[in-house]
Amino acid sequence: MLEQKILNIKTRATGDIKKSQSEKGLFDLRVKYLGRKSEFNKILKSLKNLSLEEKKKIGPLANAVKKEIGEEIKNAEKIIKSKINLETEKIDVTAPGKKIKRGHLHPLTIVQNEIEDIFTSMGFEIADGPEVETEFYAFDALNIPKNHPARDAWDTFWLKPMNNEQRTMNNNKPVASDRLALRPHTSPVQARYMRKHKPPFRIIAPGRCFRNEATDSSHEHTFNQFEALVVGDDINAGHFKYVGQEFFSRFFKKELKVRLRPSFFPFTEPSFEFDISCVVCGGKGCSICSQTGWLEIGGAGMVNQTVFEAVGYPRNRYQGFAWGFGVERLAMMRYKIDDIRLFYSGDLRFIDQF
Ligand code: PHE
Repeated sequence: MLEQKILNIKTRATGDIKKSQSEKGLFDLRVKYLGRKSEFNKILKSLKNLSLEEKKKIGPLANAVKKEIGEEIKNAEKIIKSKINLETEKIDVTAPGKKIKRGHLHPLTIVQNEIEDIFTSMGFEIADGPEVETEFYAFDALNIPKNHPARDAWDTFWLKPMNNEQRTMNNNKPVASDRLALRPHTSPVQARYMRKHKPPFRIIAPGRCFRNEATDSSHEHTFNQFEALVVGDDINAGHFKYVGQEFFSRFFKKELKVRLRPSFFPFTEPSFEFDISCVVCGGKGCSICSQTGWLEIGGAGMVNQTVFEAVGYPRNRYQGFAWGFGVERLAMMRYKIDDIRLFYSGDLRFIDQF
């Protein structure tokens, strides 16, 4: 009789466990079938009243059934848990991805890379020079002598000359030029390159420049220039005009007209201002070009023979053209930026747009 009771409990328990769908349900079943107040526990407690013979028979059965029910509940719990995991860890492959923030190039770097690509594809090499420049390369070698009023055209940040203590540290050796400056243009790279190389060559020299002047929407104390220098036996202004037109048509991806106007720079003779037809109105006249149809791009000219002499070339042996323009100006035209000061402002709302 007792044996039958135990087996019945087992059958009921197994049925209930199979039907149970939740962890809570299984917990309740454990209480119901194996808990202190359960029918099964009562049976176990009553075993002590049985005869020795019966004890031997029922005892192991009761224990075995208790163990089985416990295991069935455990297994059922495992299955339910793994189902829950499947639910919560399921991946929705159609969900929109999370955007990962990546770094990017500064607009000036983008423009500079593009300029370099166009020039190198035309056979130009890239030259480099220091941002802290000697007075000789910044001015004298470029036919801008000391105390000459032409120097006023470049508002220069001069660095303090060496003091006595520094000179002593330099073993009292005199230095070629005590005076150093933050270079106010990239033209010193012309002289540096020519001192080391023999024509013919074509180079570009991009780089940072500095001017000691008040800032406004089109002037900044720190800016970038782009120098081009082509020297050979018979380089003439026609070569310059062609290279200029080709470069700007490629940069703005449209056919542009170019115009040279007479100008003055100590290191070029003759000198020009270089204009391109307005990239916005195509030359008809608009607010960007102040109704003139033209945009001023930079200074240029045929390299002054005095500069050739200063770098050690014989006078009238070579001819070449030099050209300098502002990288910010091009970036501003390309991206329609109306204030040059934004480039180095460090304002991420501006930078993040590129
Ligand atoms: N270096 C000149 C400037 O910054 C520009 C220039 C370069 C002019 C080369 C002529 C030739 O104003």
